[in-house]
Amino acid sequence: MPTHSQANWNAIILAAGEGTRMKSSRPKVLHEIAGRALVSWVVQTALDAGASRCLVVVGHGRDDVERELSTRFGERVEMVLQPEQRGTGDAVRCAIEAEDALDGRLVVLYGDCPLIPARLLQNLVDRSEQTNADLGLVTATLANPSGYGRIVRNGAGSVLRIVEDRDCSPDQLAIEEVNPGLYAVGAGFLRKAIAELTPENAQGQLYLTDVVELAATRGEVVDLEGDMADLTGVNDQRDLAVAASTRRRRMAEELARSGVAVTDLDTLYMEAACEVEPGAMLGANVHLRGHCVVRAGAHIDVGCVLTNVVVEKDAKVLPYTVATDSTIGEGAQVGPFSHLRPQTDLGPRSKVGNFSETKKTTVGPGSKVNHLSYVGDGVIGEGVNIGAGTIFCNYDGAQKHTTVIEDGVFIGSDTQLIAPVTVKKGAYVASGTTVTDDVPEGALALSRVKQETKQGYAARLRERLRRKKKP
Ligand code: UD1
Ligand code: CA
Repeated sequence: MPTHSQANWNAIILAAGEGTRMKSSRPKVLHEIAGRALVSWVVQTALDAGASRCLVVVGHGRDDVERELSTRFGERVEMVLQPEQRGTGDAVRCAIEAEDALDGRLVVLYGDCPLIPARLLQNLVDRSEQTNADLGLVTATLANPSGYGRIVRNGAGSVLRIVEDRDCSPDQLAIEEVNPGLYAVGAGFLRKAIAELTPENAQGQLYLTDVVELAATRGEVVDLEGDMADLTGVNDQRDLAVAASTRRRRMAEELARSGVAVTDLDTLYMEAACEVEPGAMLGANVHLRGHCVVRAGAHIDVGCVLTNVVVEKDAKVLPYTVATDSTIGEGAQVGPFSHLRPQTDLGPRSKVGNFSETKKTTVGPGSKVNHLSYVGDGVIGEGVNIGAGTIFCNYDGAQKHTTVIEDGVFIGSDTQLIAPVTVKKGAYVASGTTVTDDVPEGALALSRVKQETKQGYAARLRERLRRKKKP
């Protein structure tokens, strides 16, 4: 976590807009990158950078936005309502009118800019403090500046004003220096300037950006150069995809730098709440979603998709395994092509192999479910072998029932266990058995039709079948 700026400042984050360009029913700021809402990335940045208070202006979809923020940040964020979305200047007006006590330096940020580094906010605050400017802003240069407000400077190179894309003259449209949208403004100045805004522009809105011209004519403006890669604003689905892929790449690089063996920086996908310890290995196209924890020495091989999974030390997850809400124990091995459904708990050194599916099942230490089996609603003890093609028949069409397999049991291939049923310690179930009754400790259970063998019959049978076949 970055060190906090020395200065005392408050953040105002604008998140009341609808985001019509997203063509989505969800409020724009709730669209996610790396499993976290756009606005939450911005709030996190403000908190990391050391904001004393963090006010978020909400409006469109406010119930959902407030729920997201209060679940994630609790008391650390305060919400302010903007009843009608009359522009970014109006949004700031709502915040400062609602909060008489807001003073010092106010940092205004847009809730749709999810890549801003905390360090840049601190630099902006520090520079504004040092120069005692009425307004500090960040600018950036962009080969294709369309959509962004342009920075207009005078002959001496000082910032004069910001002109919105829609309000630009043809000459202004050619300006490549843009407004990414982060400002540090003295509270006293901001209050006065906001009161003077007028909606004389292409959108008939109150533009926060007009405050820059007021600051330039009345006082002191300081500007700082930023890197546009950090400052992308999300207005449509393409912007969202671009921001998500930048974030994804950065997270992969950070992991690699921390000591995780990342096979392919371009395809590792990890959500923000996941944790991977140094010394783990993550293959190409691995997706870690929700809250995953991957401990040191664990290997997650190519193409695995894990959601809320804990992978303990030295476990191996072989290619193309899909696992959800599960735990993979120390030194355990899963896959290739296994499917662990919710509430699977694999003990240390256990194995679940190819094309096996598990659900709500504990597998004891060293036990194996190696091939093509379904184990659902099961409790499997220690040192158990489940043979190929075994099915826990857990569902009778109305209810789910439990199958218990005690320590040291051997289940032969192609066994069906009709739950509820228990196979006691050390018992042996022969291949092809349908287990309907509990099997006592140490017993052998066997249910098979006796085999009939007719010598030399194969050729006769083939001939008969051939004659039956229509020409
Ligand atoms: C804004 C800037 C533009 C800048 C760009 C950077 C203005 C007028 N323009 O344009 O100079 O280059 O961001 O990304 O500020 N919002 C509200 N209430 C409103 C309107 C908007 O809270 O009434 C919020 C939105 O939820 C959004 C943010 O303010 O999070 C920015 O609004 P948006 O409409 O995306 O502004 P841009 O057109 O991108
Ligand atoms: Ca925007």
